[in-house]
Amino acid sequence: MTNNAHAPATPLCHLDQLPDPGSKGLMHEGQALFAVRQGQQVFVYENRCPHRGIPLEWTPDSFLDHSGRLIQCATHGALFLPETGECVAGPCSGQFLRQLPCRINGGQVWLIEANTD
Ligand code: FES
Repeated sequence: MTNNAHAPATPLCHLDQLPDPGSKGLMHEGQALFAVRQGQQVFVYENRCPHRGIPLEWTPDSFLDHSGRLIQCATHGALFLPETGECVAGPCSGQFLRQLPCRINGGQVWLIEANTD
């Protein structure tokens, strides 16, 4: 999540569509993403494990481990920090999920558009 309140952005989903704490798979312009919510913080990632380049979840919208505090890949169990996407355990330890910048405004999660300069 970022505080860049003035960058161009597109709506992704309503905040109340995301369980708290929890996760949800999303499609945006043909790209598979997922969002992780922790209170009023939301983090959005490409749904692609850096280990094998495949989606992380086996069950729809289930991207977290049993504690609800870490992102988990269902295939080989890699664990990632929700805040940064860094893999902290598993076969791709030290690699990162690709995070997409977002912000919350008006009860909506917005994806901040990439700088096209
Ligand atoms: S594919 Fe994700 S940990 Fe192996």
